[in-house]
Amino acid sequence: MTADKTVFIKTYGCQMNVYDSERMSDTLVPLGYAQTDTLEAADLVILNTCHIREKAAEKVYSELGRIRVLKAERDREGRGLMVAVAGCVAQAEGEEIIRRAPVVDMVFGPQTYHRLPDLIDRVTRGERPSATEPDAPAAPARRTRVVETEFPAEDKFDHLPPVDGARARGRGVTAFLTVQEGCDKFCTFCVVPYTRGAEVSRPAEKILAEARALAAAGVREITLLGQNVNAYHGDGPDGGAWTLARLLRALAAIPGLARLRYTTSHPRDMDDDLIAAHRDLGALMPYLHLPVQSGSDRILAAMNRRHTADDYRRLVDRIRAARPDIALSGDFIVGFPGETDADFEATLDLVRAIDYVGAYTFKYSPRPGTPAADLADAVPEAVATERLHRLQALIDAGERAFAESLVGRTLPVLLEKAGRQQGQLVGRSPYLQPVHVMAPPERIGAIVPVTVESLGRHSLNGTLAEAREPAGASAVRLSA
Ligand code: 5AD
Ligand code: SF4
Repeated sequence: MTADKTVFIKTYGCQMNVYDSERMSDTLVPLGYAQTDTLEAADLVILNTCHIREKAAEKVYSELGRIRVLKAERDREGRGLMVAVAGCVAQAEGEEIIRRAPVVDMVFGPQTYHRLPDLIDRVTRGERPSATEPDAPAAPARRTRVVETEFPAEDKFDHLPPVDGARARGRGVTAFLTVQEGCDKFCTFCVVPYTRGAEVSRPAEKILAEARALAAAGVREITLLGQNVNAYHGDGPDGGAWTLARLLRALAAIPGLARLRYTTSHPRDMDDDLIAAHRDLGALMPYLHLPVQSGSDRILAAMNRRHTADDYRRLVDRIRAARPDIALSGDFIVGFPGETDADFEATLDLVRAIDYVGAYTFKYSPRPGTPAADLADAVPEAVATERLHRLQALIDAGERAFAESLVGRTLPVLLEKAGRQQGQLVGRSPYLQPVHVMAPPERIGAIVPVTVESLGRHSLNGTLAEAREPAGASAVRLSA
């Protein structure tokens, strides 16, 4: 099929949205759409949105303002532009987007993007003047605008084109793979249970097939995605439910797949088996994103996290006992309603005790419809901002200290793509840091030893510590 139209997909938010955008693009290939990375070249634009914090939704509306100008230009030229809002803002706001942004043709949530070809068809057909109205003026044509925010009974994954070798090619040497979606935890601040729905795990066999196709196409590292990925409990090929640990063990056996990661986890779902997988599986990278949100038991209770700060400390001790070199990162919210100075100090204490190598820090943002949005005792904006800066400074210092501890050490680095400088490649350390190294482009896809020489702002600079991986290891995969 030759492409005669182009789609521009702008992705906001988490990695699951990155994966969803790829899958949306897969559904458009049979319709003749090729991807473009400029809005100006597009026939169809999809904003794949995030609703996790207020600013995320506001960014979408301002982007729609920019698109409105482009669409007006297109209307003058007689060339159309179809505009879709997908993802979590679409799910949460639905009709409201259609009302607030007349430029939008389609609104659909994360559970309905497999219906995208049908939605496009409905909008396209609707745009033609209706045959039953022969006297209707040619312009403005009747316009159909569609909203799909149901949680359909069918599973979208069953209705998406499978990720096969052809679709997997060109996605590079690292890939995301959604294994679980939605959340039943109901942290009081979070919209995810409402936008992504109840927790659902994909069957293990489907995930393994997708992973095999990715590996055959040259992918060396897969990050398993789920809002609550370690709660994974998909049907196994043997009839019983598989845990994430079981799934990881099966994935680690796929030839060519050298590295596995998973994100995002909940502390309550770090079971013994998963901790043991960190001990046993060389492919499972020694880096774990394990959000705790706060170090204060009072705030953790108000957030409905259902564990204490000490539970978390003990859990980290057990994980470190199994995998001593593991690096931890987290998510933190400051300024949750009722957070006192003492609560915040408890968060700083926990950060010092755990010794994170990085973390995402957020100012609490009330999300309509979540239980915390109704709580009194809002923390003044200036106080929340000051706490955010103090916490971020502590996290940054931890990130820097960790990077400094790596200088002079030799790390296995997965070479991913060309760097900015001539002759340079960029890869990833086991700890997810970008690593810059001089190496020939045919080494992309290889895991090479790199000695860290110096530090960039959020990256490492190093030199190849040996000339070659065992003969053929990467060449075979790159030509697969
Ligand atoms: N306000 C601020 N941060 C939030 N997060 C989720 N909901 C909110 C909110 N309402 C943060 C949490 C979560 C991460 C993905 O986003 O830290 O782990
Ligand atoms: Fe944003 Fe959460 Fe939706 Fe991901 S799942 S896009 S982080 S709201």
